[in-house]
Amino acid sequence: MEKKRIATLSLEDGTEIELPIMSGTLGPDVIDIRNLAKTGMFTYDPGFLSTASCSSGITYIDGELGCLYYRGYPIEQLAEQSSFLEVCHLLLYGELPMAAEKQKFESEINRRTMVHDQLMSFYKGFRRDAHPMAVMVGVVGALSAFYHDTLDITNPEHREVSALRLIAKVPTIAAMCYKYNIGHPFMYPDNRLGYVENFLHMMFATPCEQYVANPKLVRALERIFILHADHEQNASTSTVRLAGSSGANPFACVAAGIAALWGPAHGGANEAVLKMLEEIGDISQIPKFVARAKDRKDSFRLMGFGHRVYRNVDPRARVMRETCYEVLAELGLQNDRMFEMAMELERVALQDDYFIERKLYPNVDFYSGIVLKALNVPLNMFTVIFAIARTIGWISQWNEMISDSERKIGRPRQLYRGPERRDFVPISERTKR
Ligand code: SDX
Repeated sequence: MEKKRIATLSLEDGTEIELPIMSGTLGPDVIDIRNLAKTGMFTYDPGFLSTASCSSGITYIDGELGCLYYRGYPIEQLAEQSSFLEVCHLLLYGELPMAAEKQKFESEINRRTMVHDQLMSFYKGFRRDAHPMAVMVGVVGALSAFYHDTLDITNPEHREVSALRLIAKVPTIAAMCYKYNIGHPFMYPDNRLGYVENFLHMMFATPCEQYVANPKLVRALERIFILHADHEQNASTSTVRLAGSSGANPFACVAAGIAALWGPAHGGANEAVLKMLEEIGDISQIPKFVARAKDRKDSFRLMGFGHRVYRNVDPRARVMRETCYEVLAELGLQNDRMFEMAMELERVALQDDYFIERKLYPNVDFYSGIVLKALNVPLNMFTVIFAIARTIGWISQWNEMISDSERKIGRPRQLYRGPERRDFVPISERTKR
């Protein structure tokens, strides 16, 4: 019988609280602080740097070693050998599909790629130049208005069909955001194509011209989708879980995740990296911008650098860097100015004590933007691509949470620093502050 492990908290008044220590399959132990409620005190951890919000069996990150596993499989192996829909099956159901399961899953997705025709008029409420992420938040959230028959989140079949609908329809909605933005007609999905190729078809085909995607570029985008599919309890996934803990429907929860992903400190970083490289403008300016990134008085930061968990290179950045080489070589862009600048910026930063001491390394966003630009994806669609990939992570984490019998509504407490109790003052007596 394994010995129970306990952490003891001694309080000022001499009382002691016993807090159980829990271990997972991999990774750091956690101290179960639920007993703390008895003391009337709370923990204080803005940004949750030292807080595990849940237990999960989906994704594991080792920040020191720079490892990332989806259901135990290393990301490098999945990026190299798997397909995105296989990874979706793995994240949602917990296992890589057998041949028959893969075929069934792909057909379940394929037959759901179209959106309700009335959803198309929803776009007309937006200005043409609306940022595609603003449209994504609105349109994905609106999906719940079309599926009243399958929104019972306690019903596993309803949860599964919602997951399949989101995996299938988010690329269609994303491509429609792009087409609406540039004033082109929407392209319907062509289910004879694979998942990624179908997305590129809806993005770049027109009714007047056949579009045939370069298989090497399709594979590069599939790798980007795989690398971005899930990442433990990041800001947007935590947002989806918190929204879902109230019982909100999965479409509303994923829309909340899209909103959180938009921030430049999170999924908006890939767009911000390209803007940063454009602002730097030339390799000769790199030292000046690195100095700005180190200056606490300057709000400028090196976008695409640093990570809350990774204290080593983000394993996804390594794969993304290789993909960069392959795509630029395939397109004859080996001397791409942005890529050369990114490589030089990485070299300079990784030799600088400021970045070394703080263990700031390139993250997944540092190179993904260069690949997307080479694939002719416009800058304002970079985070939309991230959202397409992360939808499977969000919905798998949401499904895991809703299936958890211990589920509770998320309701953090606070350290109150406002005014003490005071009585109302009628406006006639408010003569001084
Ligand atoms: C993603 O969580 C996830 O898993 C996210 C993600 C996913 O797949 O879901 O991996 C996707 O969001 C990747 C991160 C993309 N964001 C960026 O590239 C934006 C630039 N990076 C920073 O904003 C920052 O590194 C964060 C937000 C990513 C992490 O911030 P933390 O963990 O809160 O770290 P911090 O802000 O406390 O920084 C620690 C120190 C500070 O300096 P000191 O106060 O010690 O002097 O490092 C410095 C920071 O100023 N620092 C940077 C820096 N990032 C941190 N200095 C310059 N440039 C940077 N990029």
